[in-house]
Amino acid sequence: MIDRKVRNIEQIISPKSGDFLQMENQLRPRYLNEYIGQDIVKNNLKVAIQAAKKRNEPLDHVLLHGSPGLGKTTLAYIIANETGVSIKVTSGPALEKPGDVAAIISNLKENDILFIDEIHRLKPVVEEVLYTAMEDFGIDIVIGKGPSARSMRINLPKFTLIGATTKLSSISSPLRSRFGNVFKIQFYTDSDIEEIILRSARILNSEISKDVAHLLSKSCRQTPRIANRLLKRVRDYADVHNDSKIETKNVREALTSIGIDEIGLDSMDKEILAVIIEKFNGGPVGLNTLSAAISEEQDTIEDVYEPFLIQLGFLERTQRGRVATQKAYNHLKTVKDS
Ligand SMILES: Nc1ncnc2c1ncn2[C@@H]1O[C@H](COP(=O)(O)OP(=O)(O)OP(=O)(O)O)[C@@H](O)[C@H]1O
Ligand SMILES: [Mg+2]
Repeated sequence: MIDRKVRNIEQIISPKSGDFLQMENQLRPRYLNEYIGQDIVKNNLKVAIQAAKKRNEPLDHVLLHGSPGLGKTTLAYIIANETGVSIKVTSGPALEKPGDVAAIISNLKENDILFIDEIHRLKPVVEEVLYTAMEDFGIDIVIGKGPSARSMRINLPKFTLIGATTKLSSISSPLRSRFGNVFKIQFYTDSDIEEIILRSARILNSEISKDVAHLLSKSCRQTPRIANRLLKRVRDYADVHNDSKIETKNVREALTSIGIDEIGLDSMDKEILAVIIEKFNGGPVGLNTLSAAISEEQDTIEDVYEPFLIQLGFLERTQRGRVATQKAYNHLKTVKDS
């Protein structure tokens, strides 16, 4: 059985792991021309931003969805910089009552941006006030109780809502339909990730050749946050060995020490696949059963592990459950044989 003590990707992908936060801000692109990859999204945004500026109107509301660490928050800040407006940041769970939404939006200036992270976690009462806020730039508040209660409309500045989510399927269709722009942030190509590594290394004053960046890019799960965090680990190895440049051996050592293989899988990914193959005969197996079998939360399996395994073509989500593909069998066999 595969060692299940280290759950690296979950730790690496978590935006909350402290010492990385500062680095993340330092490496965050500020304008569209620094944002690598995602050409379709960038082109659509450029047009939408230019048109809004020309009309001196707020940009249509934007919904960004995609796996953790692909650049949704980064893009929200970039949109604010490119349009030259201020951005207020909050999150779905932080908005507890309709009054919170009214207070935040009334403090915005015309054309400003409200960014709601984890927008799939809004409470229904809060979500409802957002509908009129987004559509009519107003909020109806009920004053008083019982027979004397009356409704009052508060006018709000015209603003742009940017919502980000890792779970598009959890967004209700009334909310979703109020976004004029819905963009899926895709996994990155290896060459985009290589470029991100080279850019980050420059900012961090680390020397790395294109070849070594290329090698590292293959283990980054096509995700910029992981690329930056692995680069930092690899750089530590180079520093410890007094290597002035990041070398191939530093990449190999760092990846081995944290249990990530040459295609970016960690021990939990391999356990998920091994359990489906060995215990459930390749599947289909339901998410609850899988979650119990590997002692991992369903949300983590769904949000952190599965999207990349599906992207690799190792796993399929079917109506009856998760199924491991032939590619997964082949990869696990190579790992075991080596
Ligand atoms: N297109 C890009 N080009 C260069 N760097 C990027 C790009 N996208 C993201 N990054 C880097 O990856 C880091 C993580 O991105 P970000 O925080 O925007 O992800 P996210 O999609 O908001 O993740 P989460 O779902 O966890 O909130 C950023 O700090 C940034 O340095
Ligand atoms: Mg984010």
